Amino acid sequence: MTQPVRTAVFPAGGLGTRFLPATKVVPKEMLALVDKPIIQYGVEECLASGIEHIIFVTGRGKSAMEDHFDFSPELDATLERRGKKELLDVSRRVATMARISYVRQKEPLGLGHAVLCAKQLVGNEPFAVVLPDDVIEAPRPCIAQMIDVFSQHGGSVLATMTIEGPAISAYGVLAGSADSANPRLYNCTGMVEKPKLADAPSKQAIIGRYILTPRVFELLETTKPGAGGEIQLTDGILALLQHEKVYGYTFEGKRYDAGDKFGMLQATVEFALNRPEFADKFRAYLKSLPL
Ligand code: G1P
Repeated sequence: MTQPVRTAVFPAGGLGTRFLPATKVVPKEMLALVDKPIIQYGVEECLASGIEHIIFVTGRGKSAMEDHFDFSPELDATLERRGKKELLDVSRRVATMARISYVRQKEPLGLGHAVLCAKQLVGNEPFAVVLPDDVIEAPRPCIAQMIDVFSQHGGSVLATMTIEGPAISAYGVLAGSADSANPRLYNCTGMVEKPKLADAPSKQAIIGRYILTPRVFELLETTKPGAGGEIQLTDGILALLQHEKVYGYTFEGKRYDAGDKFGMLQATVEFALNRPEFADKFRAYLKSLPL
């Protein structure tokens, strides 16, 4: 029997340089996809997967995130006075949807270091990691799919996608082989962060969802800076592989890189087309464009 996965860590200390100038003052996690900040999609995915406690690893200039998931007394009082019951419910629901803890990453030392900052809050149990830039639309929430795999197999589970060509160099890449019994599972034997195309051990790229065993914390404590001079989560998980099984898992669903301008445009169009209140109007608008 595996322990339940109750906690999710959201590394959210990054500077968001790929989205300048929008992210000069506004945290990238707060950029709106249709009408919700991208981090809220990750939080809702976790809640729909049975996660009970969310840990945001934040940094300087990220206080808008804390305010977003808190009550807003002035706004709520105004909405109440104006009789805007539905909007009041929307505002209050965000403040009460999740039990959230915050920890600061005081220096931008890398994703592995960000996850390590959550060690005390997570404790000695398996946990999820959600990179909020990666927004995933799925028939069953991606984290829930991964918890299923974890409870069947144990070991750590990394979400993966096949990436063709030089774009692979933006990812952590797995070495290993597909599982003979389950084509969605990949038995890892190694992994490398942001390899050159020629050095990539496979086309299996790590996407921003992980289920990790707590042993990764002690390994991250001794992980040396790697790609880009940063303490990489991929290198910590590579060290974990010396002790425990690690699986890649091709999740069911579609991932959008909402931390990237083009990825955000794609997500905006597709999420808008999925929203019943303006899908028809938006489709008609797109069709009317002289493309
Ligand atoms: C991070 C991870 C990388 C992973 C990617 C997925 O990279 O380090 O292994 O493939 O997220 O989005 P980043 O995008 O922060 O450079």
